[in-house]
Amino acid sequence: MVIFGATGDLAHRKLIPAVYSLAYDGLLPPYFSLVGVAVSDFDDAGFREEMRVAVNEFSRLKPINMAIFNALLDRMYFIKGDFNDPAVYQLLQARLEMCDRENGTRGNRLFYLSTAPSLFASITANLEKNGLSTGKGWQRVVIEKPFGRDLASAQELNSHLQKIFSEDEIFRIDHYLGKETVQNILVLRFANGIYEPIWRNQFIDHVQITVAETLGVGRRAGYYEEAGAVRDMMQNHMMQLLALIAMEPPINLQAEHIRNEKVKVLESVRMMNAKDMKTHAVRGQYNRGYIDGKPVKGYREEEGIAPQSRTETFACVKLFIDNWRWSGVPFYLRHGKRVAKGGTEISIFFKKSPGILFNAADSETPVDHNVLTLRVQPDEGVSLRMEAKVPGQIMQIQSVKMDFRFGSEFAASSPEAYERLLLDAMIGDATLFIRHDEAEQSWRFFDPVLAWWRDEGTRFIPSYAAGTWGPVEAEQLLLPDGRHWRRL
Ligand code: BG6
Repeated sequence: MVIFGATGDLAHRKLIPAVYSLAYDGLLPPYFSLVGVAVSDFDDAGFREEMRVAVNEFSRLKPINMAIFNALLDRMYFIKGDFNDPAVYQLLQARLEMCDRENGTRGNRLFYLSTAPSLFASITANLEKNGLSTGKGWQRVVIEKPFGRDLASAQELNSHLQKIFSEDEIFRIDHYLGKETVQNILVLRFANGIYEPIWRNQFIDHVQITVAETLGVGRRAGYYEEAGAVRDMMQNHMMQLLALIAMEPPINLQAEHIRNEKVKVLESVRMMNAKDMKTHAVRGQYNRGYIDGKPVKGYREEEGIAPQSRTETFACVKLFIDNWRWSGVPFYLRHGKRVAKGGTEISIFFKKSPGILFNAADSETPVDHNVLTLRVQPDEGVSLRMEAKVPGQIMQIQSVKMDFRFGSEFAASSPEAYERLLLDAMIGDATLFIRHDEAEQSWRFFDPVLAWWRDEGTRFIPSYAAGTWGPVEAEQLLLPDGRHWRRL
């Protein structure tokens, strides 16, 4: 495995700890070797030390098993250099050949591009130029998100990559797909007989998907300033959640069949016109406020952020899927940094019971929607809100909850998303990765929204105090429909 950007944040916090977990679980072949490539000033020993610190800090499996970890460290190597320098690729080629000879890696290569997106094209071009994209074993490339910054750049990147690698060698990663609770969406929907018959517009009133974070932009200002909430989370992670919730049952669980169904959903998402844009898409930027009782800076005061920045740190949209199953059902998507509470959940609001017995207009206790909530994180699980009679002499109704929690039901702790995804890439299973057309279809929907915000709405970006649920406009997105955002 070759990691470009091996000394960056992602490698420290996720990739290297995931590699250690796979080794710990006995899922890596004994000859597995890792080459880090980065501009940092390390040699092999310095890199190993840096990775030792990273695993000690970020691994979910503690205490660290030193026998396993040391054996892994012994097969970690480092190449220092600029990603545009051909000499780096020659050194890399020599190092990989050494791994083949001495460790037995048999010419198999997994290139992981954990770098700024602007480098994806040049790194892959250099791999090709230096003979690293073909060889006697298999070659695969993992591309981190964001995949392009709009439809045109995603198409350009796709066609560039497809000239070098075949589609089954390209692994566009979206780590949300590696989360256990996201994989459970398919199990909940298709391994249970009771949901599928009611999983449609006849019975579902609307769907809310929320990805909320209390974190701010942290040390990623350079990246985030260019990206913003839509490019960072919505176009990828949230559209994938939407696709899994809304897709038709695939004919089997093979990658192509699942991806075919997901892409049909993304193709069916209705494009917004200029009128919709004003009422169906809201953005915001956090101001000073309080998180967990502690004061935090506003976005424009964060290090590396322009004082006049118009980058959105919050976004919500209302969208429709124009197919037979979902016609007329609004999907509301909301994401924000520095909001009141962190959590990712998908809530299916079922239609209310008819206004005849308990739900009549003059009823003292009108009944509420049944809501099926899939908690992706934290407190992973599924709950169903339903109505129940409050014990007593009068007919009083109250909402109660049936709750399933992964944590209390299953003894084993869940693997990290990156563990599953790295293993799948090594095995060559692309089921949990994004196909070229999925990436493009997600951009198709967001392109006009981003263009509208860039061109029409440049003078003003609504703000919200850190620690709240976004700008007032976010609530106003649902109010005309007589709905509210669910409180996490
Ligand atoms: C990343 C985004 O893809 O996902 C980050 O770039 C975000 O901004 C992160 O914080 C959230 O991931 P998770 O797994 O913590 O929900």
